[in-house]
Amino acid sequence: MIDRIKEEFKKRFGGDAEIFVAPGRVNLIGEHTDYNLGFVLPGAIDKAIYLGIKPNGAMNARIYSIDYDTEMSLDLDGDNPERQWAKYIFGVVQEMRKRGAVVEGFDCVFGGDVPLGAGLSSSAALESVFGFALNEIYGCGFSRADLARIGQMTEHNYVGVRCGIMDQFASLFGKDGQVIKLDCRSLEFEMVPFAPVGMRLVLIDTMVKHSLASSEYNVRREQCEEGVNIVAGHVPGVTSLRDITIDMLDRFKGEMSNVVYRRCAFVINENQRLLDGCEALRMNDYEVFGHKMYGSHDGLSNEYQVSCRELDFIVGVARKHTGVLGARMMGGGFGGCVISLVNDDAYAGYINDVQSKFKAEFGVSPRVIDVVIGDGARQIQ
Ligand code: GLA
Repeated sequence: MIDRIKEEFKKRFGGDAEIFVAPGRVNLIGEHTDYNLGFVLPGAIDKAIYLGIKPNGAMNARIYSIDYDTEMSLDLDGDNPERQWAKYIFGVVQEMRKRGAVVEGFDCVFGGDVPLGAGLSSSAALESVFGFALNEIYGCGFSRADLARIGQMTEHNYVGVRCGIMDQFASLFGKDGQVIKLDCRSLEFEMVPFAPVGMRLVLIDTMVKHSLASSEYNVRREQCEEGVNIVAGHVPGVTSLRDITIDMLDRFKGEMSNVVYRRCAFVINENQRLLDGCEALRMNDYEVFGHKMYGSHDGLSNEYQVSCRELDFIVGVARKHTGVLGARMMGGGFGGCVISLVNDDAYAGYINDVQSKFKAEFGVSPRVIDVVIGDGARQIQ
């Protein structure tokens, strides 16, 4: 990919580009907790977006996307573009400028191998690679945490998804062989070693494109806010679900709809599952960790209601294999991938079983994506 980018850049714009990369992410546990200021446990992966870029002395950006085979000129002083992928790039530039940076025109070529729409945060990878690269070539002096915020606010203000900070944070802070236990309230984090011996992570993509994801995602966020407001009306100092225990929520259950109660209870329990899961990882107890993953899936499916038939089906098959320690839907939901933690010797049997059963049930072959936890955004010399 890097050679391809260098070549395209030379051909289209002339000269040599500087090369940057930012990866997609997985999340082991802690879903829909980030925007509720709870904990998440993501890691960067070995699938990424690569960018070749150089300032062009103008006020527009000339951009070539290898994957879409499209070249476009983007007016950086103009309006939010129509084209979906261009919104991310435009938004990042605007968010950097809002924070005082001088970012001017550039020529660039980008492409990668993060599967699109599979819930591996290809969009965060795109924001992170542009934020990271522009920060370097224009010497803006932003920290990685600033760049994560810039990516998140791009989603809010230019794409229309009120996402949390997990995806951008993982893409920017990832480290080979480690996952990030991130406190989304303070942004303090701890790197947790994750290099299980004799086991591996595998993603199974339902191939269901999560079209509902952004609208339902914003609805979930509002339901959580509704619950917080009710409790905050009685308990001083409560500003997010992070401040609310199950006992506290139960006290005011009568004042909220059943749906709001279930959404809030899920988030509170998911935070606890994550903390227990991290404890298990520290003890090298992957068995217990796997149980927490299944618990997370059940909550997402039954209480938070962001799963779908295809995701539930795969997790159902996983449960029948003793060598699959844990499995759960990953990311926003309504499609995308199931992440499973599998013993090496159970891997082939599990994958074959899922593939044939899924095909028989839905008439489509799910895509199998092997992932390894890798490094976050960086420049490639
Ligand atoms: C999407 C969002 C993240 C996070 C997850 C759910 O990936 O971008 O911020 O909320 O959904 O955990």
